[in-house]
Amino acid sequence: MSDSDHKKLEERTSKAEREAKLIEDELEKLASGDLSFVNDPRLEKLMTDNEKLKHRLEILENAIKATSSSSGKAAKPITRKRPTLVTDISSVEGNVCIVDELKNVFSLGILSAYPDLEDPPVVITLSSNNPKFGDYQCNSAMPISQLLKAKNVKTNPREVANNILNKTPSSPLIERVEVAGAGFLNIYLNKAFVEHVLNCVLRFGIKPPPVKRERVIVDFSSPNIAKEMHVGHLRSTIIGESVCRVLEFLNHDVLRINHLGDWGTQFGMLIAHLQDKFPNFKTHSPPISDLQAFYKESKKRFDEDEEFKKRAYACVVQLQSGQPDYIAAWKLICEVSRREFQKIYDRLDIKIIDRGESFYQSRMDVVVKELKDKGLLEEDEGRLIMWGNAEKHDGIPLTVVKSDGGYTYDTSDMATIKQRVEEEKGDRFIYVTDAGQATHFVVIDACARRAGILKEGQNVEHVGFGVVLGEDKKKFKTRSGDTIKLIDLLDEGLKRSLDKLVEKGRDKVLTPEELKKAQEAVAYGCIKYADLSHNRVNDYVFSFDKMLDDKGNTAVYLLYALTRIRSIARTAQISIEQLLEEAQKTGFKFSHEAEWKLGKVLLRFPEVILKVANDLYLHSLCEYLYEISSTFTEFYDKCYCVEKDKEGKIVKIIYERLMLCEVTARIMEKCLDILGIKTVSKM
Ligand code: ARG
Repeated sequence: MSDSDHKKLEERTSKAEREAKLIEDELEKLASGDLSFVNDPRLEKLMTDNEKLKHRLEILENAIKATSSSSGKAAKPITRKRPTLVTDISSVEGNVCIVDELKNVFSLGILSAYPDLEDPPVVITLSSNNPKFGDYQCNSAMPISQLLKAKNVKTNPREVANNILNKTPSSPLIERVEVAGAGFLNIYLNKAFVEHVLNCVLRFGIKPPPVKRERVIVDFSSPNIAKEMHVGHLRSTIIGESVCRVLEFLNHDVLRINHLGDWGTQFGMLIAHLQDKFPNFKTHSPPISDLQAFYKESKKRFDEDEEFKKRAYACVVQLQSGQPDYIAAWKLICEVSRREFQKIYDRLDIKIIDRGESFYQSRMDVVVKELKDKGLLEEDEGRLIMWGNAEKHDGIPLTVVKSDGGYTYDTSDMATIKQRVEEEKGDRFIYVTDAGQATHFVVIDACARRAGILKEGQNVEHVGFGVVLGEDKKKFKTRSGDTIKLIDLLDEGLKRSLDKLVEKGRDKVLTPEELKKAQEAVAYGCIKYADLSHNRVNDYVFSFDKMLDDKGNTAVYLLYALTRIRSIARTAQISIEQLLEEAQKTGFKFSHEAEWKLGKVLLRFPEVILKVANDLYLHSLCEYLYEISSTFTEFYDKCYCVEKDKEGKIVKIIYERLMLCEVTARIMEKCLDILGIKTVSKM
């Protein structure tokens, strides 16, 4: 494909993207207003258009992917491996992923209805909250009808939908399927199936959906020595930790790496300043608790004093050549910083391996030589640079060697990816940093691929995030305009969370120990949840008031909801053993609409987890958690679990509802655990 074709393709993609977005906005507008939109003929049209566009988008995106890989490999032949379907409810366990199974079922129907279509789209989506649309939908008929039209086959989406339906095998997951509107296939789930799955979760616990085990390297937090760890690093720490947790839940082999900025020219001035201020630093550990101030002092001297500057440069040379005294000074400075960082990690319960830029020092020599030998480096005003694309020199190249012979952030990341591929034998390489570094990682990916370090299927995955803003929507700062120290921020969280608990009179009910536990769970939980519940690519406004509001979508709200659910069985004085015994005897049976609704939400846990592990957008897990909690409230409003008489004596216990409470609590706990939020039994 020529460049101009490629460009055209990209233009068409972004046009389709814009159109799809417009339609989605329109749909959202429709849906957010009153409910009359359900009968609005425009709705169906928009939905069809939307599906079509989404499909077109997918095709275009795939085309771009296929053409932009530099090696120009031929497209993979379509493999039509027939999936094995679930044929018997009892063979299914609690970790079944509904969307995937439905995809398998409908792909068989589609392939047998249209055997001549290459790669027909199998689109399964969750239906909107309206029972009229079924529980899930297969929306393949619209795009398939489009594909057929392109081949001059006369048809319409409804006809296609009927065809698919006729050829789709029956499945124990599905009660019935209806063709609706312009060609939607509305899928209604089988109650007995859902009952069985939830019973499995109750009896055998929450199990992860099965996936191929991978080794995943997650590079996150990564503050810089002697500089402050700022809110950006806090975001990276919170998001990175959750990414690790979701992958670990799926049994992947996860390596957490703190890619500390612990190497570079700034150490020259720090060491020179250390030598002056604490000449006997080797025998007496100097009291530099405030390393930032120390950094500022040395920077000031560096900028103002030529003599000092010269010495600083000399120190860098000594350090890089491994002079023991200089290494000792460097280690000392790193240690002071690490101790500070550790305080934050301890509070947030983060366990991460320190492996900073210095680790790659000798590996940088190796990778630079490799790139030179392969003829991939070009001279540019004394520097050695590398382009991601041999033919097309647009965008920015990496600076691999500076004109003074030194290395850069780029060099270290080339050595880093090489180490992670070749020594760590990773399958997935994740980097959690602010969105500002997105281009850097795109170029690293392209160069590593060009150098043959990354193989097909291996990618540099950048998990980017927006900036943290203050409530004034400006850069997050203290009132006096200083940057906020993370420790102070966490302290303020603790204080505010205690105020909140006291305001609710919890200090009178809880023991001092319970109160402290609740205070910490609420404070750190709220900070984490506020971060994770927003789409990470957006900027977000840091507001203690909002994150501690127990009526909003916050960690406090969820923690309260969970303790309330947990207290239901406690009040009924039913132990988990009794519940399990009953479950074994009677199983699960939905008798009320609200139970059924809650059951279907709980059933989605595996599919939500798989999605998050794939796209690493944790806000979908938060949205799911919030949905569980609100669906539970609806259920609890309508269905009593325990019946009491006028004196308050328990006269009847509805075990099946208590079972539903138990499964709800377990799934909520698992979600919170993945988000890194500690739960408490009382608060
Ligand atoms: N230290 C860098 C910063 O503060 C982040 C490092 C991210 N990791 C990496 N391999 N480049 O922005």
